[in-house]
Amino acid sequence: MNSAETLRVELGARSYDIVIGSGLLPETGTYVAPFAKSAGVVVITDATVAKLHLPIVAASLDRAGIRHHSVVVPAGEASKSFACFEDVVEQILARGIERSTLIIALGGGVIGDLAGYVAASLLRGLDFVQIPTTLLSQVDSSVGGKTGINSKSGKNLVGAFHQPRLVLADTAVLDTLPEREILAGYAEIAKYGLIDDPEFFDWLEINAPAVIAKDGDERKQAVLRSCAAKARIVSQDERENGKRALLNLGHTFGHSFEAELGYDGRLLHGEAVAMGMVIAHDVCAAMGMAPAQETARIIKHLVAVGLPVRASQIAGVHWDVDRLISHMSHDKKVRDGQITFVMTRGIGKAFTSREMDVGKMRSAISRSCQSN
Ligand code: NAD
Ligand code: GLY
Repeated sequence: MNSAETLRVELGARSYDIVIGSGLLPETGTYVAPFAKSAGVVVITDATVAKLHLPIVAASLDRAGIRHHSVVVPAGEASKSFACFEDVVEQILARGIERSTLIIALGGGVIGDLAGYVAASLLRGLDFVQIPTTLLSQVDSSVGGKTGINSKSGKNLVGAFHQPRLVLADTAVLDTLPEREILAGYAEIAKYGLIDDPEFFDWLEINAPAVIAKDGDERKQAVLRSCAAKARIVSQDERENGKRALLNLGHTFGHSFEAELGYDGRLLHGEAVAMGMVIAHDVCAAMGMAPAQETARIIKHLVAVGLPVRASQIAGVHWDVDRLISHMSHDKKVRDGQITFVMTRGIGKAFTSREMDVGKMRSAISRSCQSN
């Protein structure tokens, strides 16, 4: 096992550690023991992760003498639904819980969001631990306490801020993750460079192949730097009244593509974010705020790693720009009827604004949707 590194998310009474290392899963029992009381633990996971990694977690909890049982949901975004939420909650209540029952979210962002919301809701709030098993969840969704499910009106519209007590990110579990999912997670890593860390973006341009290829030092560094960036932002603005909105770079556009396809797997969240980040830079360049050559540099990098950069790359889809724009009005970033956009003056210079040139935005979305 590589030595583990610990970061702290500073949130007063809700502060917690993020432990990052290779080979942590077999030590789950030791890490969660301080939070697991006699009432025991419920592990919420999905069917794919249950097959691959649940036995290791269960054996470790057994070794630590922690009572536990698991609830397994189907893999995929469709599990972030009212129906699945109800099913999980009823299964857990049927077994009996106490205020000290600990929930463990073992899986990707879908499980983290669903299990976190289950934890936030049961008995008005149970403690929970995040054990993220996708790159995306290790660098983004497991940190910061955003939990929730999707509604017919849009993604993540029902939920709660509920911070975990611990995040345990074992980079070795990513060995079983398909490459497409690794790339989707990589988009969120690149995002941190684009927001406010141009030196990290420079580092990624050199080290991305190693980050993507295997569980090595570069991947661990990328997870660490991403989590450190997220922890810093969340500590300053837990409830997204200001700076935290920067983490949504590319997301307003990305969510509209995801909503249009109905979260059916044709487009992964991280892929949508990659396409959205390109649109955000493209429109800001068109508005004269950001250098066009930086948009080109970002596209070159994302293409080199193998991410889609234009909506037209999603095979067999005819995009309707009006429909994409209408999806944006259901976004959580709407305040007083106006969308708060994450804009940019270039790599590492993101900021939020409501001053969007709607005509130029429409053109940038159209460019993304047209094959050239
Ligand atoms: P996911 O949870 O659906 O996982 C992707 C796929 O990988 C699933 O099929 C899963 O079964 C499988 N998988 C997970 N771990 C595996 C492993 N180690 N080996 C093999 N297969 C594995 O998707 P995701 O990309 O992790 O998360 C996307 C979700 O995260 C979206 O719902 C998005 O809205 C949410 N999200 C939330 C936040 C937040 O702050 N709460 C931030 C970003 C994204
Ligand atoms: N992924 C955006 C956030 O956590 O705020």
